[in-house]
Amino acid sequence: MSQLQINHLFKRYGSVEILKDINLDIKSGEFMVFVGPSGCGKSTLLRCIAGLENITAGTLSIDGEVVNERAPSRRGIAMVFQSYALYPHMNVYDNMAYALKIQNASKDEIKQKVTAAAEKLQLTKYLDRLPKQLSGGQRQRVAIGRAIVRDPKVFLFDEPLSNLDAALRVQTRIEIANLHRTMEHVTMIYVTHDQVEAMTLADRICVLRDGMIEQVGTPLELYENPQSLFVAGFIGSPKMNLMTGKVADALGAHTVGVRPEHLNLVESGGTWTGAVIHEENLGSDTFVYVDIGANEPLVVRVDGTASHKTGAQVSVSAQAGKLYRFDNAGKPISRA
Ligand SMILES: Nc1ncnc2c1ncn2[C@@H]1O[C@H](COP(=O)(O)OP(=O)(O)OP(=O)(O)O)[C@@H](O)[C@H]1O
Ligand SMILES: [Mg+2]
Repeated sequence: MSQLQINHLFKRYGSVEILKDINLDIKSGEFMVFVGPSGCGKSTLLRCIAGLENITAGTLSIDGEVVNERAPSRRGIAMVFQSYALYPHMNVYDNMAYALKIQNASKDEIKQKVTAAAEKLQLTKYLDRLPKQLSGGQRQRVAIGRAIVRDPKVFLFDEPLSNLDAALRVQTRIEIANLHRTMEHVTMIYVTHDQVEAMTLADRICVLRDGMIEQVGTPLELYENPQSLFVAGFIGSPKMNLMTGKVADALGAHTVGVRPEHLNLVESGGTWTGAVIHEENLGSDTFVYVDIGANEPLVVRVDGTASHKTGAQVSVSAQAGKLYRFDNAGKPISRA
């Protein structure tokens, strides 16, 4: 069991309010992902949960007990940072064993736990190496291993993969998903800027904006039913097309949003027509930028490759029910 409850949590630095009335329940064993623009307070919230920052007002409870005043080491929480923060002069084994040694664990217990963690993270053959003799992905796994041996009830990750190259990110992302699967009762809270990580790892995503929670839901809930213009524009990559002005007026909204994957290029008779101004061929799919005279070009996703001449006139239609409409307060109104 490791259920977290955040009630009316505020965090201020002097007179600057960083977190404003955060209310969030995280279930035991849940994988919760925090996303939001840079500076919105994700790391601060994580640090408040870990006990590395004081909570200014409100409560944090773990399994029903308020832990605001409890020391970080007594919260059953382990945190993995973006910078691995390994001890450079200790080999992998000692790096992982360190926290247990400090707790005066027996040699046998240390050996058993470090060996098991190394096995889980495929680090067994690197136990004698120093951090500098490891790749970035291996170092990050050691940092995770250091957290695992402490048997935490709650795992906090602050952008753990952002220093890794693309291939290693994918591999380590899958390892973290597996880790979550094998540690059923361990609650994980994970901060990321990466859309794919958020969508694929999360049971639920919490979108933060300017120190407040904007929306919490499963990845598909947020993708399909954003409760604000902000979430609509934030979740999804490439992002949702958001059009104001006469295009929106024509549909009775302040802003109309439509995702690139919900648009089709058609011979004629589409909702909009315009000139192709740019094309991005990714091999598996292509993003075609069409100037329809709106505030920004419309991005259309096409399966496979495409080859439009710049300036070619195309017609664009939106799939039924996929036009998101928002009022001037950014709140959703019925779809078209
Ligand atoms: N010790 C501090 N004193 C004063 N302000 C701080 C302190 N730490 C963070 N802040 C401010 O709090 C706000 C939130 O910072 P935080 O690091 O939580 O953002 P974040 O969402 O993690 O951003 P990023 O995505 O860039 O990591 C920022 O405006 C930051 O400048
Ligand atoms: Mg941060």
